[in-house]
Amino acid sequence: MNDTLSVEKMTNAQALVELKRLDGILNNANKDYHVDDAPSISDANYDALKIRNNEIEQRFPELKLDSSVSDKVGAPVSDTFTKVRHNVKMLSLSNAFDAKDVHEFDARIRKFLGLDSQPISYTSEPKIDGLSLSIRYENGLLIQATTRGDGSVGENVTQNALTICDLPHRINNAPQILEVRGEVYMSHDDFERLNNRQIEKNAKEFANPRNAAAGSLRQLDPSISASRPLKFFAYAWGELSAPLSTTQAGAVEALKNFGFSTNPLTNICLGPKEVFLHYESIQSQRATLGYDIDGVVYKVNDLSLQEKLGFRSTTPRWAIAHKFPAEIAETWLEAIEIQVGRTGALSPVARLKPVTVGGVVVSNATLHNEDYISGRDSKGELIRDGRDIRVGDWVEVYRAGDVIPKIRDVDLSKRQPDSIPFSFPTICPECNSPAEREAGDSVARCTGGLICSAQAVQGLTHFVSRGAFDIDGLGAKQVEQFFDLGWVSEPADIFTLSARFGSGLQQLKNRDGWGEKSAEKLFAAIENKRQIPLNKFLFGLGIRHIGETTASLLAKYYGSWDTFIHAIDHITDFSGDYWDALLSIDGIGEILARALVSTFHATKQRDVINSLVNQLTIQDADVNSDNNSPVSGKIVVFTGSLELMTRAEAKARAETLNAKVSGSVSKRTDIVVAGPGAGSKAKKAQELGVKILTEQEWLDLISSSSA
Ligand code: IVH
Repeated sequence: MNDTLSVEKMTNAQALVELKRLDGILNNANKDYHVDDAPSISDANYDALKIRNNEIEQRFPELKLDSSVSDKVGAPVSDTFTKVRHNVKMLSLSNAFDAKDVHEFDARIRKFLGLDSQPISYTSEPKIDGLSLSIRYENGLLIQATTRGDGSVGENVTQNALTICDLPHRINNAPQILEVRGEVYMSHDDFERLNNRQIEKNAKEFANPRNAAAGSLRQLDPSISASRPLKFFAYAWGELSAPLSTTQAGAVEALKNFGFSTNPLTNICLGPKEVFLHYESIQSQRATLGYDIDGVVYKVNDLSLQEKLGFRSTTPRWAIAHKFPAEIAETWLEAIEIQVGRTGALSPVARLKPVTVGGVVVSNATLHNEDYISGRDSKGELIRDGRDIRVGDWVEVYRAGDVIPKIRDVDLSKRQPDSIPFSFPTICPECNSPAEREAGDSVARCTGGLICSAQAVQGLTHFVSRGAFDIDGLGAKQVEQFFDLGWVSEPADIFTLSARFGSGLQQLKNRDGWGEKSAEKLFAAIENKRQIPLNKFLFGLGIRHIGETTASLLAKYYGSWDTFIHAIDHITDFSGDYWDALLSIDGIGEILARALVSTFHATKQRDVINSLVNQLTIQDADVNSDNNSPVSGKIVVFTGSLELMTRAEAKARAETLNAKVSGSVSKRTDIVVAGPGAGSKAKKAQELGVKILTEQEWLDLISSSSA
């Protein structure tokens, strides 16, 4: 096939034949996709062929055909990006805000690996303030570029990524499959030029280079994105058909040799001491780098250690982002408003005279709760030396982790003599139900439950959000609209919306941003989510304390909705075998378990959940690890001191092999791995007739599958 003939080696005649062949395929594919709405080839395939077509045209400009697809200003502008599932998840980084956090990170790693006093070698490099991108090469050809999205599914932005100048379209001697990951960013100079052009065009200016880069990469018309200069630093990888190196630094060097830009300020540092020196050095160069960075990233250099350390749900254990201290600005507190969240929490929000903090205009900041305003923390200890915050005060604002604006302090020298302390409401501002604080809880909650519209709307907004049902086209604004119209008051209503108001939606046409097409799309997006993985379903319910990680733990432990609900229904008075089993899940504590059981046992809430379940097919837990392992699905308890691996390593490895690690022994336990000094747990296992293995026997058992 001509596909394998490299462009560099083509003769004129071969180029012409190939251009005609590609022209036929690409024009047909365009028509199938955009006119007939029936794609005939995959996006990845289309992108790869188009890149090849462009490369031939660049080398043989005189052969370019009149009908060439490259002259059609990209494809007709689409109004959405296609979704792409990442074969290897795109993870985030946990943060360190000071030296203590970094020391703890280093200590955690050494403990996990059982390297008590040995220093660890880390790579240390700037944390680029842009957005991450994964670029897939097959046989050296760029075939797809995908944004991070929610880490599991991103958006196909290949056309736009092709406009990034320092991204090679073809690479030599690369592994057959190579996914390069890194950060897309915009330099300060390019940002300024872009904003000047925006001003000339009377268009909205971008707040900072990061927003400009994100807006440009996610621009639906590739011809616009082509006019916005984006850059890219490679620092990681996803799927690979062959390893790049045995070290992080070596792998990044390999990426550099393939033609990617890598950050020149990357060093190898031995232990925290050297890491801090490099941090200081990068910080001192921050203002003159010409692009935004917001910290320094440390990664364990040895890739075999990285593999041992593995991942938490969304972050690797082997890396951390050491953030630069947040910028601080002073402004005037105009008002304190109270928002009601989905669990009824009354959250005070500061309305501020707009002020720029770290390149972003801030006009709201969280005030946490009543105690925080009055100058106390959750334990009743003084904060800000006890200074309270009042409407009319001058306050210091910063962006925590550079995202959520917070108030750090208040300037008493500017306080007006007639100012009065803020009096926290005792009734819900939305539904007038009493607001109460449980003993020991710093948060006041509305007691209105389902009658409180604010709680209902927030609950629905959470339900459709990313990480939960993630329904395209249904965000906070639309949820509020449908709620106000009386169309949707609980999650199940979303799935009957089309049947009840399919035609009614057209009444909204031209009025509230809805058209026939957007309504159809919304219904398709809703239909799409009738099948939902158990973890997303559980998270979507918005139960207090049940975040994404906990929902995944529950899904993994119970496996299916039927097993889960059977177990929860068989818990009475927070006791018995099913209760013990729930508490035995590592990561599930009693407060959380009580909230979970109470929610499913409360009649009204259960009705709401049942109606929803009736609309859905809840998929069994997505077990991405080894189903064929000899310990798959088995409940394992580690006890005593382990000598061949650390406790954390043992747990992580068992979980990768799809075993469930529990902290306590019951008759449901399958295996107890007992090291020297094992006490009551091993004894209980013996009494219950549970299989007991030594550490070595356990390793022999699992080594058959982890080879
Ligand atoms: S490594 C598995 N290195 O920071 C670890 N990330 O806050 C993958 N980022 O999502 C990330 N500079 O978008 C890594 N030198 C760097 C980075 C970097 C910026 C971004 C990246 C990540 C985010 C986490």
